[in-house]
Amino acid sequence: MDLYNWHKIDTTALIEHKLTEMLVAGKRIGVLRRNDAVYAFTAACPHQGAPLCDGWLDGQGRIVCPMHKFRFDPQTGRNTTGEGYKLFTYPIEIRDNEVYVGFLP
Ligand code: FES
Repeated sequence: MDLYNWHKIDTTALIEHKLTEMLVAGKRIGVLRRNDAVYAFTAACPHQGAPLCDGWLDGQGRIVCPMHKFRFDPQTGRNTTGEGYKLFTYPIEIRDNEVYVGFLP
């Protein structure tokens, strides 16, 4: 049995290497397409809730929060600048060229 409820993402809104905020099944998430992979994560920074999609990617593809510049790995959510926060990430599946994000029920 599948743990997740899967929801299709509108990929027409995605631009390579650009953070995009979208509403999927009532959840506000951030989505990133980078080097043929897609990542999804909570739209609000785990530090003080800044909108992460107003931030940018650094040279290694990490998300930089626009507020205090903490950085996060978009795949694992790891806080690569070491402040001790974790970005919540969502699983992604690609089926028949469509992209799905998984939410726990
Ligand atoms: S709100 Fe994102 S680093 Fe502080």
